Amino acid sequence: MTDLATAPDATGASKPDTRPARPFFSSGPCAKPPGWNAAGLATDSLGRSHRSKLGKQRLAHCIALMRELLRLPDTHRIGIVPGSDTGAFEMAMWTMLGARPVTALAWESFGEGWVTDAVKQLRIDPTVIRADYGALPDLAQVDWSHDVLFTWNGTTSGVRVPDAEWIPADREGLSFADATSGVFAYDIDWGKIDVATFSWQKVLGGEGAHGVLILGPRAVERLESYTPAWPLPKVFRLVAKGKLAEGVFAGETINTPSMLAVEDAIWALEWARDLGPDGLIARSDANAAALDRIVGERPWLGHLATDPATRSRTSVCLTVEGADEALIKRMAKLLEEEGAAFDVAGYRDAPPGLRIWCGATVDTADIEALGPWLDWAYAAARAA
Ligand SMILES: Cc1ncc(COP(=O)(O)O)c(C=O)c1O
Repeated sequence: MTDLATAPDATGASKPDTRPARPFFSSGPCAKPPGWNAAGLATDSLGRSHRSKLGKQRLAHCIALMRELLRLPDTHRIGIVPGSDTGAFEMAMWTMLGARPVTALAWESFGEGWVTDAVKQLRIDPTVIRADYGALPDLAQVDWSHDVLFTWNGTTSGVRVPDAEWIPADREGLSFADATSGVFAYDIDWGKIDVATFSWQKVLGGEGAHGVLILGPRAVERLESYTPAWPLPKVFRLVAKGKLAEGVFAGETINTPSMLAVEDAIWALEWARDLGPDGLIARSDANAAALDRIVGERPWLGHLATDPATRSRTSVCLTVEGADEALIKRMAKLLEEEGAAFDVAGYRDAPPGLRIWCGATVDTADIEALGPWLDWAYAAARAA
């Protein structure tokens, strides 16, 4: 933390003495891991073919590290695909949906985006089960003879699924989890997941550009036995001559990847490997607990996610008493100008509020240092 002189500002509100050392609380791209420095990245693979021995080795190393840290069983494949999490999830939807009825769960902006694409682009008329911002839909309503689309952690409302207990082991349909702000922060029961996607920019603090696609055996079976009615662009094609393109899951990417983004992801994954999967989860948990204490101490702050059992421990969304969009904007601007907190305004489609990233790359001391700055910004923004 950085020491500051305590001084009332123009509005009369006193500025706290210390500010977060790394004031990066964006929910994506998220804070780089502690100690990260661009000069620390390996660069031998840059300026080389991604199909060279070295390029393939680095891609395979990245995949192996992800597998280890996700505790992904051998039954599941994991590969790097274009287009960040959106690319990976769209690829799954476009290649596998249409074989059976679909249910889509939506309780915030990103889940709603998958509904829109299923309805307007794929025209598959899904059953949609919705909940308002702050709540989770009734998971018991899901008909598992359908393929089911859901978001593991709703980044824009701070509501997540509690676990995978609600997904039956003997489901007929496939489970599709957009898990981009959930992986590396929660233990995932992979036996219940047929398709999962994420991008490095969230809990790892990596870069966008590439998505990660995880496929269970039933998803592979679907890909090899079903051809969608619609055309597929080359970047979505996972099957050649009726067989899964296995190379994608060994580092032979469909098209040219950014090896800089890959090296950056490797740096983050090697940092994460030293902590281990439980260590990563523990860092998110500690951050979320620190933020929860801040909320508990302030009557004007609250959680948008009403049920603690389904409250996010990564993208924590907060309500601010009496706040409208303009007040939140002023608070976020004041915090940014002070270098005390960047990117803490809630998502544009969510109810006006704050959103504080609590993933593993954030240090708990920085969350703790944020509390007094929120007091200051609230007072200053209201006085302005
Ligand atoms: C739940 C969820 N899905 C999808 C996305 C889109 O991710 P990307 O920009 O990596 O494609 C995000 C990004 O914030 C997200 O939080």
